[in-house]
Amino acid sequence: MILNTALYSNTSDITDKRFSYSPMVVNELDQAIGFTPFVRLNRISRLCQKHDLYLKMESCCLTGSIKDKNAAYLIQLAEKQGDLKPGGTIIESSSGNFGIALAALGAAKGYKVVIVIDAKTPPPIKKMLLAYGAQLESVPLELADAEGSMQKARMNHAKRLAMKTPGAFYPCQHLNKNNPGAHELYTAQEIHAAFQQPPDAIVVGISTAGQIAGIINHYRKQPCSPKIIAVDVAGSAVLGQPRHPYKMTGLGLSFVPPSFQSKWIHQGFNVSDQMAFSMCHHLAKQEGMLLGGSTGAIVSAGLAYANTLTHPERIVLVNPDRGDRYLETLYDEQWLQDNALEVWSHTRLLESINHLHPIRHSQTNSKRKQHANS
Ligand SMILES: Cc1ncc(COP(=O)(O)O)c(C=O)c1O
Repeated sequence: MILNTALYSNTSDITDKRFSYSPMVVNELDQAIGFTPFVRLNRISRLCQKHDLYLKMESCCLTGSIKDKNAAYLIQLAEKQGDLKPGGTIIESSSGNFGIALAALGAAKGYKVVIVIDAKTPPPIKKMLLAYGAQLESVPLELADAEGSMQKARMNHAKRLAMKTPGAFYPCQHLNKNNPGAHELYTAQEIHAAFQQPPDAIVVGISTAGQIAGIINHYRKQPCSPKIIAVDVAGSAVLGQPRHPYKMTGLGLSFVPPSFQSKWIHQGFNVSDQMAFSMCHHLAKQEGMLLGGSTGAIVSAGLAYANTLTHPERIVLVNPDRGDRYLETLYDEQWLQDNALEVWSHTRLLESINHLHPIRHSQTNSKRKQHANS
């Protein structure tokens, strides 16, 4: 093999700055949560030259998603409060990431884990849950609501199961008021610590509203808070838009979660499956990032927001999960065809983003304005 000596002649150019930091050395799996990197988007749009768009890569979490944080936090809290004891069983309704995170952390702590899935749960998710030793309970499709959502049916099943299982702990991420605490503790503080000044805006997806509420709760206690840009999938109920079936998993909900407070949001975007999945394909090919469908929605909304700005901003976009668990769905040609979806060209995608408008403008965020004017 011939080495390109010109390339390596000045090794100081390729020094890896990370070696000046202390790597994490921990005794328990749940201590290795968080501290995910922020990676700048450089090639997906010309807007990347005008603004600093940083993707916070929660895909680098242990089980590949931000839900490691909720799982670790809610398990630790339950242990502390005596709701989960040695030999206990964790029961939860999840069609993906939260179930996977609970299964992994439950295995590491010696708990039995039962995850309530439904007939639409993709095979790779089921395989991951089973590989971590979780037991699966599947809810039949007949129990879907009028718009095809299985969320309430799964939650009802999990609740009933928890009531009749001795030593059961049902975190119920959708309704648990402690759920946002995980993101106040981890996600928001990581963003806070990463930059000397708070970012101008944080773009974040919503389902249980744990992330968005945790980040907002953190910044409400700070003298200066970023604008919060909320992202939902078209067809979901959270931002109050008309409901219809959608293919996205992770993002969206069939009801408005109790942790969600629209008054703290600067802008909200509803992004279609079509736009989100197209963005995912272009992020993989142009930025080298193979990420989940919701990240496609979040980046699309982030670019739509950036499009409206007159001055350069630093924008943090929270990437919730990795793309490998979607290889049989949104990254699969046949699946896309079967679901009447196509991957738009890069040009068509960016043109469509130019026409993506926010659905909600808040008159609040006075704290941020106060700070900006001071
Ligand atoms: C995969 C995934 N899970 C969950 C969420 C939503 O997070 P939360 O449940 O904290 O609102 C998102 C949002 O983008 C997501 O993409």
